[in-house]
Amino acid sequence: MAGDTLRFDRNDPERARDPRGLYKLLRDHAPVMNMEEGPRPGTLVSRYEDVLEVLRHPEIFSSNDDAIDIGQKRPMIPLQLDPPEQTKFRKLMAPLFAPKVVDALESQTRRLTVELIDRVAEKGACNFHDAIAEPLPSTVFLQLLGLPVARAAEFIALKDGIIRPPAETEAERRSAVLGTGEKIYAVLEEVVAERVEERRDDFISGFLDSEVDGERLTPQDVVDIGYLFFLAGLDTVTASLDCILAYLAQHPKARASLVEDPTLIPNAIEELLRFETPVTAVPRIATEDTEMAGCPIARGTRVNVMLGAANTDDRLVNEADEVDFHREVNKHLAFGAGAHRCLGSHLARMELRVVLEEWHARVPDYSVAPGVELDYSAGLRQVENLELVW
Ligand code: HEM
Repeated sequence: MAGDTLRFDRNDPERARDPRGLYKLLRDHAPVMNMEEGPRPGTLVSRYEDVLEVLRHPEIFSSNDDAIDIGQKRPMIPLQLDPPEQTKFRKLMAPLFAPKVVDALESQTRRLTVELIDRVAEKGACNFHDAIAEPLPSTVFLQLLGLPVARAAEFIALKDGIIRPPAETEAERRSAVLGTGEKIYAVLEEVVAERVEERRDDFISGFLDSEVDGERLTPQDVVDIGYLFFLAGLDTVTASLDCILAYLAQHPKARASLVEDPTLIPNAIEELLRFETPVTAVPRIATEDTEMAGCPIARGTRVNVMLGAANTDDRLVNEADEVDFHREVNKHLAFGAGAHRCLGSHLARMELRVVLEEWHARVPDYSVAPGVELDYSAGLRQVENLELVW
């Protein structure tokens, strides 16, 4: 059936809550599928080996400025550049995210985590998204980048305005993200201008002192890096914490195994990143006429690379529909793959581990509040109504 058109509702809440049925349908019946209708026509790629093939060939499947439109005025760096230009920027950014840099952030991340948990632990109930999943990674990230933490709520609202714009139609979405994008640029331009005058101990200052091929990054380059970071750093760890805690709240045996043996936590994180895949898909654009699994893909087609479908494919791991914290090999694609693989993965893993360790040490037994139907957002899977009781 490769190349056929299959209809489904992109905004079906049940599908956002559990997309695995749709993933299977696509892999089994339309592994490369053209979506000719809808606001953003394009091609879906869902099998593990095809997803990897796309991600490993940026010369054919580019993530350039046309692949995604989230209010950017210029390509976001490094995501919307292709190698070899992208590689130059990666080289200078990678050391900022190296494991030893992240290790140095662990104790302050733990302090903040404990502080946030202590505010709710005695209450017996909280909205985990509001109490922990949103404030913790946002604070860590804003401090790192060098944006004022006191304005976190405003920045989170701007980020949500891009990722989950209040819009019914594609035209409304475009106009909403353009307007919000302008506001994010204004924030970044202001802070970059301040750091041009006076450096501090933050990423923005570090980028201003960095060089690519012997040339300093310009303030505009730093703004274009900042735009991507703003969106990548403020949403993904929150979404991952939401998905992981929502799973554990609904699976008491899995949760008890972590409480009993916290050394399982790193493995559990990998397995739940695989099974839940908070960033469900990434976009690419075909740079030439090509073909995959017998399905023609015309130059200029938007290709939706379905990480979640690849991660729940038996071609990746045995019994991919089962959650197993004891898997020995788990090469999941929750952080992508190839040239654009996530730069923040060490940082994200550290934050997830610290939260799971500290939360389960204080709140070992919890569940979703009675009567609450968890509401997952599509695309980037946050659970804003993650009401827990214990
Ligand atoms: C669990 C949390 C996270 C998940 C699931 C995640 C997921 C991803 C994915 C799937 C990509 C690939 C995008 C593509 O190929 O089009 C990516 C790229 C990226 N991520 Fe993350 N991310 C997370 C956390 C973070 C954090 C905390 C930061 C920064 C503070 C970050 C920074 C980036 C950057 C800069 C890129 C672009 C890399 C490039 O284009 O070379 N990510 N991330």
